[in-house]
Amino acid sequence: MGNENSTPVDEATPPTTLYGRNIEAVAQYIKEKDVKKIVVMTGAGISTSAGIPDFRSPDTGLYANLARLNLPYAEAVFDISYFRKNPLPFYTLAHELYPGKYRPTVSHSFISLLNKKGRLLKLFTQNIDCLEQEAGVPGDKIVYAHGSFATQRCIDCQTEYPDDRMKDTVQKMEVPRCIRKTCNGLVKPDIVFFGEALPEAFHRNRSLPAKADLAIIMGTSLTVQPFASLPSFVREETPRVLINFERVGGLGSRPDDVLLLQDCDEGVRKFADALGWREELEQEWARTNAGKVEKKRPEAPTNSRQEELDQEVEKLTKDIDTSLKLSGETSDRIRAEIEKGTSPSSRPTSIPSSTEPSDVLTTPQTTTSASSFTLNHVYPHLKEDKPEKPSL
Ligand code: OAD
Repeated sequence: MGNENSTPVDEATPPTTLYGRNIEAVAQYIKEKDVKKIVVMTGAGISTSAGIPDFRSPDTGLYANLARLNLPYAEAVFDISYFRKNPLPFYTLAHELYPGKYRPTVSHSFISLLNKKGRLLKLFTQNIDCLEQEAGVPGDKIVYAHGSFATQRCIDCQTEYPDDRMKDTVQKMEVPRCIRKTCNGLVKPDIVFFGEALPEAFHRNRSLPAKADLAIIMGTSLTVQPFASLPSFVREETPRVLINFERVGGLGSRPDDVLLLQDCDEGVRKFADALGWREELEQEWARTNAGKVEKKRPEAPTNSRQEELDQEVEKLTKDIDTSLKLSGETSDRIRAEIEKGTSPSSRPTSIPSSTEPSDVLTTPQTTTSASSFTLNHVYPHLKEDKPEKPSL
């Protein structure tokens, strides 16, 4: 990402801080150096095992599934100018994803455990499902970079909308309107849509990755700016761990990067094993079970590892499919609304133009090229071309 060289360094290249490029070496580093300033950066991949789809996985991701609703483009569901014209697709999704029905995953519990051990400096999450807090991570340790469902307001006069009414409206899959009768504007949860600025908390805390003594990046494709640039601001000699199905964002390009290209939950369990924390992690996760729909994959390992994996994949696919199944009636209703709204060619213009530096939410398709897109205004403490190493 950003100016980061995306070529992975040779496995044989010796690390500068760790004794080896593996998770056991990271665990040893944490213990020997008494690492207490861990910055965690997460995305939708840490919630998929809870039954919540991510955005960009080819078949199961939200955007692939939205294609059948004939939106002008999948990300329109999170586009503020499209929302003004047609809020129903967003509220259909909100109905599916609204916090409260899902159980945190082991990955969420791992972050909570890091905090309980006094080692979490800050969690930057792009997720809006609030599962971090449900897992026990305190609110003041979390930066909801893309906002959350926790609060909501009128998009015209900014009047806050009551939580209980919001819950009720979302459950009925209705579109809430401003409580000020003279306004009647659309109400939207304080989730950052494309074309909107990131919360103030993101800006207030954006210098923390440069102060971290370890960064853990999990379950994100690192495609959405400015979040995607956070890992590149971790100091060069500070170890960075990526736990994700795929290599993303140039991670692996530094000698102290450690890649666990696997399922997040399996990755954090491996990490916990290396730290000698496995039992505590399972206990931490067990605490999240109260009253939640159990969507987690079974853990009875009587089969071979391959059979177990196949079953997990099959179950996960079914879970996600069920979570996302909109009834035929609902799909028809949304299609009708969309046809009334924008035509496929009328992509809203609120998404910032590619060459203009912007601190609003952007994806690569909203920028012409990475090189023409600078983030100096978002990270003024660092220079885009050559991140400075701030002194601690
Ligand atoms: P994406 O869907 O873009 O990326 C999820 C990443 O997690 C991908 O690299 C997957 O391969 C990986 N993944 C999925 N499940 C996994 C698992 N169980 N174990 C390991 N890896 C897994 O999601 P984000 O990066 O979070 O914006 O997307 C960023 C933003 O794009 C979101 O915040 C959202 C979206 O537009 C808004 O909602 C405003």
